[in-house]
Parts: sequence; C-alpha cells; structure tokens
Amino acid sequence: MAKVAVLGYGTVGSGVVEVLDTNAREVACSAGEAVELKYILDLRDFPGDKHEAQVVHDIDIILNDPEVDVICETMGGLEPAFTFEKKALEKGKSVCTSNKELVAAHGPELVELARKNGVSYLFEASVGGGIPVLRSINDSLKHEKIDAITGILNGTTNYILTKMDKEGASFEDVLKVAQEKGYAERNPEADVEGYDACRKIAILASLMSGGHVAYEDIYTEGITKINSADFAYARSLNMAIKLLGMCKKTSTGFFTMVAPFLIPMENPLANVNGVFNAIDVHGNMLGDVMFYGKGAGKNATASAVVADVVDILKHKGKHIPVNMKAEKAVLTAKDNAVRQFFVRVSESEKDKLTDVFGPEIDIVKSPEVQGEVAVVTDLISEKDFEEKLNKLDSVKGYLRLF
Ligand code: HSE
Repeated sequence: MAKVAVLGYGTVGSGVVEVLDTNAREVACSAGEAVELKYILDLRDFPGDKHEAQVVHDIDIILNDPEVDVICETMGGLEPAFTFEKKALEKGKSVCTSNKELVAAHGPELVELARKNGVSYLFEASVGGGIPVLRSINDSLKHEKIDAITGILNGTTNYILTKMDKEGASFEDVLKVAQEKGYAERNPEADVEGYDACRKIAILASLMSGGHVAYEDIYTEGITKINSADFAYARSLNMAIKLLGMCKKTSTGFFTMVAPFLIPMENPLANVNGVFNAIDVHGNMLGDVMFYGKGAGKNATASAVVADVVDILKHKGKHIPVNMKAEKAVLTAKDNAVRQFFVRVSESEKDKLTDVFGPEIDIVKSPEVQGEVAVVTDLISEKDFEEKLNKLDSVKGYLRLF
C-alpha cells in the first residue's frame, strides 16, 4: 500500500483526492498497489469533509513520516511550495505538481534534486491540464528530434477569442462574462497578457531543448489589443485568431514566443475553440502529432497529477529521468524571425502602404470594417517589420501570420 500526501486542498488538490477516491481500483491496478491518502496539508480545517481526519497544518508531520512515498503539491505559487518541494525531495519523497509557475522558474533544479536523491519530480498537470503531453514528450517521443512545439496553452484566452469571433462581442464584454462564469480570474492579467501561456511554453521549450528556457527570456504579447475589426478581417482571410505559444529549433538556437496569430482555417489549431487547449509537436521522423483536450479545470488537472502518482509508483525506488537541465538553453533573437504580418491602417494612408511594403502588396478589405484598409505582407523579419511599422502614422493594429 502506497501512501500519498496532498499539499493544498483547493480546486486541484480536492480534485486529486476525488480522483484517488473515485478511481481507487483503476489507480491501484495501474500503480501495482493500492494508494492511500494519508495527509492533506492546508491552513484551513474542513469540518464535515470526508477527509477531515487527514488534514494537518504542519508540513513537518508529512516530511517526517517515512510511510509517505509521494507528495502532490497543488498549492500553486512560488513559496512556500518551492521550500516544501525541495525538503520533500531531500527527504527521499517523490513529488508531483500542477504548479506551472514553480516548474517554469525552478523545474530543472528540482529535477536535479530528485535525481540526486533517487526519487522523481513530475509535473504533467503544469501544461495543458489533463492532456498527457509532457509524458508523451518525455517517453513516447524520446527517440524523436523534436524541432517545433506550437500550442494553444491557455483556456481562458481561447474562450475569450472564440466568443469574440463567434458572437462579435468586445474583449471587455467577453472577459466580464468569463469572470462571471468562473473561466477567468478576477485579476485576469496572467491569462490575458499571455504570462500563463509563457510559463507553459517555457516548460515545453525546456523539455524540448534539454536545458532551461527561462520564461523571462520569452517575448510575450497577450490578447488585450485584439478587437472585432481584427476578427472581421480574419473571416475575410479565412483565418482564425489564436494565442499561440511556440518553440522552434533553428540552426542557431531555440526561438520562443507567445503572441496572438492569424492561422489559416485548414490548420487544426484554428479549429480549437472554447476552453480547450491543443499542442502540436513536430518530430523529425514522426512529423506532426497533436494533443487536444481540457487544458484547465479541477478534474482534468487532478487526473494528470494522479497520472504522475501512478508513474512514480510504477518506478518505485528509481528516478524517472526528465530531459531538463539547469544550464540555460541557447535562444535566438526575435528580430531575425521571418514571417508574414497583417497590418491595419486608416484608409487615408492606403497609398503609403505600397510605399512601405512594396508595390506588389495586396490590400485587404472587410465589408464589416469602414474607414480603414489592411495588408498582408510578404515574408519579412520581425526587425524589418518593426521598422516599416514605424513609418506608418495610423496603425490600428497588427498580427502575425502562422
Ligand atoms: N488560467 C489557466 C487557463 C488555467 O486558462 O488555461 C490552467 O493553467
């Protein structure tokens, strides 16, 4: 019988307990032994809760109990989660977590600490909620040279963009509804400014590179500047607008970015709607493989945490290797990345568009948008585009093309 402790009895933590209860037989079957929840760490008491008796307030009770094999950290945030995880690994306990903030900041050193102590550090739930993408990269695709990962990694922003597109609603109105429905936080900054997607692509990029891609080094744009005119043009172009996190292997290093992109409708990523996430992984031999599913939510995220518990118990007494080291991965500068861009300007500046982008440039119009025009540029570098953009006086918005 294996014993586990859950740190943090919030949404994800209580979901982990629910999965362990509801799927006890399946969990035991796959882990090779029954799994007992021995402790729940939380500041609060939970009178009347089925697991009331397991609630403790002192981490040392858990750390000093030799019976505890696995710790599920579902508290979120950097501290005290970081300290608790380090102490657990040093005590020879395996740790699994949904804490993307902590994994993005300190994942490589926690993996290394687990290795030194002969235990495991897994974090499937930190990216794509219930989607088993990290285990696939770390296991099923280990023989591949992965050269690109592109994902819709944030459910909240994908819900907002989908509603803006399908219902013609403004960003502010959709955000308000999303907050009322509990899809968006009261402080939505981490989602709408792209910070959450940035943490997730940092974790994926670290696994892809085998080094550490620090989230601070990833160029990140959110979705707050997108409006209904952008969607009108997108429809004319038969494209969707999605917030993408990407990492590409280039000859000089790894290129990473988070930004909203126009995506042709024939690309499956363009058809990922609502709170769903999708991650396209490209391997040199395999080609594209896409992972799709619920990127957030209590049960889906908790299921991924329990998948890690099972994996750890299947490998009891061994360290599960994770391709992530503390040395910083070599990143390439954003300036050199080449792509097409979409730019909107006032109708009065139409002639200047051809001066700036060349006489061959196609002017795009949307019957739904008055008083302005747009262009889709040829392939140009980010740096060139920025310089050209500065020559225009009435830019109303721009997007990158995927
Ligand atoms: N706010 C996140 C999202 C939660 O919307 O995807 C899951 O990480």
